[in-house]
Amino acid sequence: MKPKLHFTAPRNWINDPNGLIYYKGEYHVFYQHFPYEPFWGTMHWGHAVTKDFIHFKDLPIALYPSKTYDRNGCFSGSAIELDGKMYLYYTAIQYLESQDDYIHIQKNNDDILATQALMISEDGYHFDNRKDKHLIIDTIKDETLGNDRHTRDPKVWKTEDNKICMILGSKMKKDDRYYGEVLFYESEDGIDFHYKNRFIDESIGDMWECPDIFKINGHWFMIFSPEHIRKEQPQNNAVYMPVSFDEKNFQVKRKGDYIFIDQGLDFYAPQTFLDENHQRIMIGWLRMRETVKGEEWIGMLTMPRVLTVKDDQLYQDVLPQIKQLFVKSVDKIDFNQPFVMKVTMNENSHIDLGGFQLYIQDDQLYVNRESVSICNDEVNNISHTPKLNGRYDLEIYYDHHVFEIFINEGYYVLSQVVYDLKDDHVIDNVNSLNIKVID
Ligand code: FRU
Repeated sequence: MKPKLHFTAPRNWINDPNGLIYYKGEYHVFYQHFPYEPFWGTMHWGHAVTKDFIHFKDLPIALYPSKTYDRNGCFSGSAIELDGKMYLYYTAIQYLESQDDYIHIQKNNDDILATQALMISEDGYHFDNRKDKHLIIDTIKDETLGNDRHTRDPKVWKTEDNKICMILGSKMKKDDRYYGEVLFYESEDGIDFHYKNRFIDESIGDMWECPDIFKINGHWFMIFSPEHIRKEQPQNNAVYMPVSFDEKNFQVKRKGDYIFIDQGLDFYAPQTFLDENHQRIMIGWLRMRETVKGEEWIGMLTMPRVLTVKDDQLYQDVLPQIKQLFVKSVDKIDFNQPFVMKVTMNENSHIDLGGFQLYIQDDQLYVNRESVSICNDEVNNISHTPKLNGRYDLEIYYDHHVFEIFINEGYYVLSQVVYDLKDDHVIDNVNSLNIKVID
């Protein structure tokens, strides 16, 4: 069964959310999509629209390979509105070599060449892949600036004085090692972009994917998805970092430590956008390692999360209209329908939701999905938060095949994909408990 509140592709592969935008009264959700198989391959942009993030309408594929420069894929990117038109920025990919006898995957990870491209659509519904694509930033040839193969995921935004800015993920080689970095570009018209500045940090992974930078209540944050940030699997994990940012000269300064945006093992490649009420919303991708038995879809997007700042700290919360769906209190859990469980735990609590275990140890929330997951690969099945200072208030959202857990009002979030939940549960020694379902 597919999740009800988490977006999935009609069938086959989905990864990053792309081009999230409120445009002419609707939200457009694009996504990295391989339409032919339930695994990653030649990237297309899938497309759906929604007014409430509860009901989605699937639309035809928006971007597909059609030019020499994007012949092997349209990688991640973003959207803005300009003069009433929708501008979609993406990374155009050519494989330098594909797998023997299979054209949809490059031979080795590095066998790709990247340029940045743009599709202009009149209305957000029609995308002329023959006429309306533009190559806007050529392959980077200067090794000291960035990487010709791994430079991608343009996130574009408009400033208050109508400048158009882009942040781009890349990596830089120094002393036989790679360091993750972001590059900043600026444009007057949304087509002609000029390089302005960069930000490198030598201590956070070796390639930064899907960067984004935004301000909430005067506080700037940068989010990005560094590769190889951890030794253990999964090695790639999305982070946020408080920064200072000067929008005039594109100067970033780190203001504190980076934090994993989600403490679980599946969350990656989030993107933010402003909703119709000018709230900053974030959606991420939840990786799935296998399809659900007998089904042909794989991967999902998180529910949209509202980002706010309290005491200089970023908080995440579920979109109010989704929260408000859960109105009916119940005593028993039924895994055939979504529910939200509000629970306050302590050191002696034990929660087992169909085989998904939660417990507090050493002041941290632990979750263990060993018995409801895949055990034949190297990816961990146990994860935990940092220390929680004795406060363990959880809001656990369940939807088919996924838990999203908001801890202490969203100070931390932990999401996990699960498979084959058993039909029973144990909730022992908790301080308070309240379970609600959709009426
Ligand atoms: C992140 C990512 C992006 C890239 C896309 C390709 O998951 O690797 O950097 O644009 O996915 O599908």
